[in-house]
Amino acid sequence: MFDIKKCNRILLKVSGEALMGDKSFGQDHQIINKICTEIKELHDKNIQICLVVGGGNIFRGMSASKSGMERASADHMGMLATVINAIALQDALEKLSVPTRIQSAIPMTAICEPYIKRKAVRHMEKNRIVIFAAGTGNPFFTTDTAAALRAIEMSCDCLLKATQVDGVYDSDPKANIKAKKYNNITYSEVLSKDLKVMDASAISLAREHELPILVYSIKQDNELKRIFNGKGSFTIIN
Ligand code: GTP
Repeated sequence: MFDIKKCNRILLKVSGEALMGDKSFGQDHQIINKICTEIKELHDKNIQICLVVGGGNIFRGMSASKSGMERASADHMGMLATVINAIALQDALEKLSVPTRIQSAIPMTAICEPYIKRKAVRHMEKNRIVIFAAGTGNPFFTTDTAAALRAIEMSCDCLLKATQVDGVYDSDPKANIKAKKYNNITYSEVLSKDLKVMDASAISLAREHELPILVYSIKQDNELKRIFNGKGSFTIIN
């Protein structure tokens, strides 16, 4: 049975929206500091951590393409947005004395390292948090898929997906107060019921490589700590 307490290396997927707090756009640095403080607490427990951050607080490729922009161009802008968020997370983590390295799927060496798998693993072994920026580096792939891909490449024990609600529900809990939460659900059920927790490519990739996904709420203070102490509220997809 999956036990989060046995995980030594994890990938945490933080959406861009999580970084904007109650704002409708951009970054809320107080919220970023709060998230980074919770990440530091895990790092202090000697858990190896890597992060994938989204960019939706700054630019959403999919929405821009719906309003007429060429999808590849829109996705390139979205990938650049994730780099802006990665730099903000790096800054906040390093202010808390947590060593970090950013690796970007699109090389931009004046700003950060390019993505090099072996180097990323080495950084984590040296107790550094690696922040993966620019998604997979390809248009048409979401940062959820990037998170599943990097978690598999890094041989992570679990992918933690921070969302706005405390797990996977059978319908949108914000729209339906009777929505039922799953404690455990299979990849296949998520796909067949079309539960919109992550996109299908990310779930399929995780299923193929048996990567457990833990879905929890980033809105709940100190939830990461609770989860790693065997408490908290979440859903396991495996
Ligand atoms: P170890 O040699 O394993 O200890 O790793 P290290 O990251 O400390 O060593 P390295 O010499 O690779 O990097 C030193 C610093 O330069 C780190 O802060 C890296 O993030 C940074 N760095 C390394 N490569 C690049 C790059 O291509 N672009 C940018 N902007 N910074 C880089």
